[in-house]
Amino acid sequence: MVQIPFNQPYYTGQEIEYIQDALAKRTSGDGIYTQKAAELIEERIGCRRVLMTTSGTHALEMAANLLGLRPGDEVIMPSYTFPSTANSILMYGAKPVFADIDERTLTLDPDDVIRKLTPRVKAIFPVHYGGVACNMDRIMEIARCHKLLVVEDAAQGVNAKYHEKYLGTLGDMGCLSFHATKNYISGEGGALLVNTTNEAIWEKAKVIRQKGTDRERFLQGEVEQYSWVDWGSNYTPSDLLMALLSAQLEAMDEITALRKKIYDFYYEKLATFAKESLRIIKIPLGYDSNYHLFYIILSSSQERLRVQKGLKEKGIDAFTHFVPLHLSPMGQSLGGWVGQLPVTERVSAGLLRLPLYAGMTRPECEYVVKALLEILTKGN
Ligand SMILES: Cc1ncc(COP(=O)(O)O)c(C=O)c1O
Repeated sequence: MVQIPFNQPYYTGQEIEYIQDALAKRTSGDGIYTQKAAELIEERIGCRRVLMTTSGTHALEMAANLLGLRPGDEVIMPSYTFPSTANSILMYGAKPVFADIDERTLTLDPDDVIRKLTPRVKAIFPVHYGGVACNMDRIMEIARCHKLLVVEDAAQGVNAKYHEKYLGTLGDMGCLSFHATKNYISGEGGALLVNTTNEAIWEKAKVIRQKGTDRERFLQGEVEQYSWVDWGSNYTPSDLLMALLSAQLEAMDEITALRKKIYDFYYEKLATFAKESLRIIKIPLGYDSNYHLFYIILSSSQERLRVQKGLKEKGIDAFTHFVPLHLSPMGQSLGGWVGQLPVTERVSAGLLRLPLYAGMTRPECEYVVKALLEILTKGN
């Protein structure tokens, strides 16, 4: 039987050469490939400063630290995201306040952000979902009005744009992920984009990443020896992984174009079938996706299970996505309750992600669409 996985890494061939070169140069962390990856991101995305990190999670943790979050502070974020967004806030004793999402993009709903504002709110952590941006104009306007800082969780939004600006460069800081499930990968890996003009934040970011030392200044010849200057950890990725990532970043256009073809095929074939019982999203004008996900939204969790099982029987892996954080065991222990965020709850119950990876062939896409339409028609 045909087997279609949900995801598969796509390698260009250059990866091995760069990894061998990194090995030959006996680099560990912050070697030439870490620098190369940072430069490739800087050039492409046009951000002020980049620090490569061990993961998107660690980039978020660094950002939360740099904001100076402390007990009593609140941070508004969506519940429809990966736990790392909330963990980074909890790590510093602050409270994640969950806001609902906009049905059109499944990202933070600015109107609900306004409803969740209190004098204790210090920051907003918008999450760009599936490669499609949040309404950043409105989020930044709210942040400006209320003097809040903004950290974009762009783990899934690398190389995607909002009105010509790359995701991760619109807020004060942005966090990217190069996890194996993302578009451009190093297995594990991430980056912190520091966009603020506040020099102190940039200096502190370099210290936090280097175990609380001023090693960066030492490497620049600014101090004779480096020592412990602040709290920190080790958020420096292995240069071997950054060698792999450098090859992926150089192939960003190629990878994105391949993903777009699959996305467009799904969209074209399913748009005519879309109705109340099967929703697909239309990417809003001015939003450039990186085609990270293609998902459908079915009418209920029962219908989703039926479709998912039907696809599995035909050899196709299709997956649900986030359990809303406010309904997860941890979220409930923090006070989350059923009915708290109606759009998040409805959408998450029906959402099913279809296979999408750069190496997916046209016959494979056709097989998925045919199987899906057969299952959907049978259910009517
Ligand atoms: C929205 C979101 N935030 C954060 C993360 C964490 O990224 P990483 O797996 O690189 O730690 C992920 C990824 O898996 C994610 O999807």
